[in-house]
Amino acid sequence: MLVLGFAEFEHQAKALAEQLHCPYKRVDVHRFPDGEALVKVPAMLPGHVIICRSLNQPDAKLIELLLTIAAAREHGADKVTLVAPYLCYLRQDKAFNPGEAVSQKIIGKFLADQIDELVSVDAHLHRVTHLQLAVPCRRAVNLSAVPLMVSFLRDNLDNPILIGPDRESEQWVAALAKARNLDYIVCHKQRLGDRRVHVALPESADVTKREAVIVDDMITTGHTVMEAARALLAAGAAKVHCLVTHPLFVDEADTLLHEAGVAQIWSTDSVTHSTNAIALAPLLAQAIKQS
Ligand code: R5P
Repeated sequence: MLVLGFAEFEHQAKALAEQLHCPYKRVDVHRFPDGEALVKVPAMLPGHVIICRSLNQPDAKLIELLLTIAAAREHGADKVTLVAPYLCYLRQDKAFNPGEAVSQKIIGKFLADQIDELVSVDAHLHRVTHLQLAVPCRRAVNLSAVPLMVSFLRDNLDNPILIGPDRESEQWVAALAKARNLDYIVCHKQRLGDRRVHVALPESADVTKREAVIVDDMITTGHTVMEAARALLAAGAAKVHCLVTHPLFVDEADTLLHEAGVAQIWSTDSVTHSTNAIALAPLLAQAIKQS
């Protein structure tokens, strides 16, 4: 077994190799002036190759993955496991308007055609409930970061109230609250555009003088957490923090959040970011060992 990684995710890929007690090697990627990619894998590979890379900003990475897997199979790999803590193109799980491509299905089939196994974390599944239905490969595992978040909260905060900024986040916030016996509320969110959301606290919510932690699967533009933080502070919360699995952070998301009064932002290392506070490697390694 060997772990292959890429420059921007090397720390996490090396940590995974360490947990699995197996070697790590980097895939070299050269970009030609016209934008095409040349990938180079090590010349002699073992039978089981684990490719560890999150698929945020995915379009170029998907082509690099296709080339890497083909080269890996030519150089000895007969089983390929993709460990992609953040998995792309899951949100478009149906055509919302006539003519739209159902990206989840198309990219899911593309990946399933290349790999034998997939391991991901808090995959954004909504209408499709199992990861294997989205990516129909032999084994597809969707891990939850909740157990790691439980330990993190226990070590860092006393008795926070947990906040789900929308209905979809209830699965994470409820599990986390249950494990630590904490209060939680789920807000009402209305999405008005890519960078426009409205978030309202439930009428019965009392957050006065409470330390609040907004829990979500991902921060992209930051508008969801920003609106939730503003509502919490306006309702009298003493402090607002945020705990998230996937810190995608596009545009100036961190600045927006700090300007809205968010004190601390913590994330898992599913995507490399300055807010990374929880390492996923032990969880990922456990899932691979069970295959
Ligand atoms: C939505 O369903 C997700 O769980 C996140 O709440 C959303 O993707 C966050 O996006 P943004 O940071 O752009 O508001």
